[in-house]
Formats: sequence, C-alpha cells, structure tokens
Amino acid sequence: MNRGLFITFEGIDGCGKSTQIDRVARLLEQRSGVQPVVTREPGGTVIGEAIRKVLIDPNYLEMGTETELLLYLASRAQHVKEKIVPALESGKVVLCDRFQAATFAYQGYGRGLSFEQLATLNRFATKGTVPDCTLVLDISVECSLRRLAAMNKSKDRLENSSAEFFEKIREGYRAQASDDPRVVLLDGELGLDELTEEIYGRINELMEKSFS
Ligand code: TMP
Repeated sequence: MNRGLFITFEGIDGCGKSTQIDRVARLLEQRSGVQPVVTREPGGTVIGEAIRKVLIDPNYLEMGTETELLLYLASRAQHVKEKIVPALESGKVVLCDRFQAATFAYQGYGRGLSFEQLATLNRFATKGTVPDCTLVLDISVECSLRRLAAMNKSKDRLENSSAEFFEKIREGYRAQASDDPRVVLLDGELGLDELTEEIYGRINELMEKSFS
C-alpha cells in the first residue's frame, strides 16, 4: 500500500502553527481533494491528551526535567502506535502540530538534556518513525511574547517560561534546520494568507514527489 506523507509543524509558542495547520488542511481539501489527518503533540490520542493536561498544568511547577521528557515521549509513543503509523500505512497525509524537533529544541537546547540520550529515547518511543518534512514557523521572541500577551488568556506551565528560555528554543530550531534538509525554516511573521500559501505550496510539492 502507498505510504502516506508525514509533515510536522514547529516553532516557539505563539508562532501560529495551529492556525496555519487549520488553514492548510482546509486548502488541501478544497484544492486537492485531500483529507489530511490533523493531530498534535503532546496529545493526539485519549491517553496523549490526558498526559498533555499534566504537562501544561501551571500548578505542577515542581515537575523535573526528566519527568517532563518522559511524559512527552509517553504521549509520542502512544500517538505513533495508535494514530500516526496506521494513518501513514493507509496512505494519508498527516499534519502534526509538534513532534521530535520540539523535544530537541525544548528539552535539549532549552533544558540542557543530552542530545544523544534524547535521540536514543526518542527512537525508542517512535520505533524510528520520522517526519518526511518539518516546517518551522520562525518568529522573534519579542513577537512570541507580544502574541501570547494579545491572546489574553491565562498562561500554561510552559508559556510562563522566560524570554531567555524561548531564545534558546528558537536557536535550537534554527540549528536543526541548518543540520537537516528535512527541517525547513519559514518566516512565521509573514501575513497569514502569504504564509498559508507558502506552506500549501511546499506540501503540494511533497505530495507530487511522494505520490506520483
Ligand atoms: P503547544 O502549546 O504547541 O501545543 O505545545 C505545548 C508545549 O509543549 C509547548 O510549550 C512546547 C512543549 N513541548 C516540549 O517541550 N517538548 C515536546 O517534545 C513537545 C511535543 C512539546
């Protein structure tokens, strides 16, 4: 059976990836008749969504770095097994809000955990399932903070982090983009429509290459 296409979206908090995923999913249906599977991490399954609640709860400030990592990976392991692999095996286009690049950016560059250990543990959780393409919506930390403030909602545990932490995460994503051709940096400060078209164009190209 035709293997599908696995595309992940990344960036620092407030980069607009959830909005862009919704918009691009709609365009894919309208213009290409493709019904993508839209999902997210942490989350994407009943178990993953339960883990997500623990991870973002602003009351759990005592959460250790190792605990945090293992919860993200537990959510990922369930997600890959229950949803991502079956969707890819049935030839679907999967649009996933965050995946392994977030672990390297947040737990590696942000929290300082060893990249080697992260790679080993991530491979254990995913059984080697990797995205065909990772689109990073790159925005400045000032832009991130401005957008989070404008959302005017109470911040979750991660959104309460310092500007310095977000700078490290941004650098982490940029480093991954320069090391791996499958990780692509896009300007997340472009206008909404322009960015949606850019993303749609990239996905269309990938679909042509993979499905022709
Ligand atoms: P979201 O707000 O984009 O849904 O993501 C929730 C938070 O989880 C966000 O602050 C990034 C963080 N995160 C990690 O630190 N490591 C990971 O592996 C993933 C998937 C997310």
